[in-house]
Amino acid sequence: MLIFDTRTGYGVLSRLIHWIMALGVLFLFGLGLWMVDLDYYSPYYTLAPNVHRSIGILLLMLLVFRFGWRLINTHPDDDDLTAFERIAARFVHWGFYPLLLGLMVSGYLISTADGHTIEVFDWFSVPSIYQRKGLEDTAGEVHEILAYLTIALVALHSAAALKHHFIDRSRTLARMWSGPPTNP
Ligand code: HEM
Ligand code: HEM
Repeated sequence: MLIFDTRTGYGVLSRLIHWIMALGVLFLFGLGLWMVDLDYYSPYYTLAPNVHRSIGILLLMLLVFRFGWRLINTHPDDDDLTAFERIAARFVHWGFYPLLLGLMVSGYLISTADGHTIEVFDWFSVPSIYQRKGLEDTAGEVHEILAYLTIALVALHSAAALKHHFIDRSRTLARMWSGPPTNP
């Protein structure tokens, strides 16, 4: 099993991280929208934000690892793309990193701006490193906007992946799912 990415496809680690990240981000988006409307008497009033923050912190760690992993790996060829598609794909792929980082950091600031620590599934805690009055509200607005922007980019990215798969019949989606071909 290939660990590293090659010119013909993604290795197992990049693929695993990509799909865990995709599921995690979509799940947190749904959970976030649902939990902000919960009533104080709901049994999920404390649990849902705790789960949201815990998964968010784990995804933040995964994002940082993925970024480093991306930098030290070869990138699979994109020769079958037109010049426009290649630039658009680079823009979208690299765009995810600052967008997700901003989303996660703003989430961290909403939760810690008043000095609270974040308990990640009672496993480890993340301390508050910066406190300022009103920061919680600003971070909350930024978090909401970045969440919608991320989902818009995910929609565009998924539509492009499906177009390459079903219309162009290229291996783009296959190599993100099952890796490089055994007989390239
Ligand atoms: C939150 C959701 C998602 C995020 C954040 C995301 C992010 C990324 C990023 C950053 C890349 C570049 C490679 C890398 O650094 O891993 C990538 C590649 C890719 N993604 Fe996603 N993705 C998401 C969801 C999806 C979905 C739902 C699909 C399929 C419908 C998909 C299909 C692909 C494919 C096929 C590639 C490889 C493109 C290529 O080789 O040029 N992604 N994705
Ligand atoms: C990919 C990661 C994330 C996504 C997609 C996401 C998505 C969302 C969404 C859609 C909301 C609802 C916004 C609203 O309607 O006001 C929300 C709220 C929230 N998120 Fe996230 N989030 C992510 C990461 C994080 C992280 C890492 C943390 C903290 C460590 C966090 C903490 C919070 C908190 C505390 C709220 C409630 C804000 C309020 O009460 O207004 N989120 N999130």
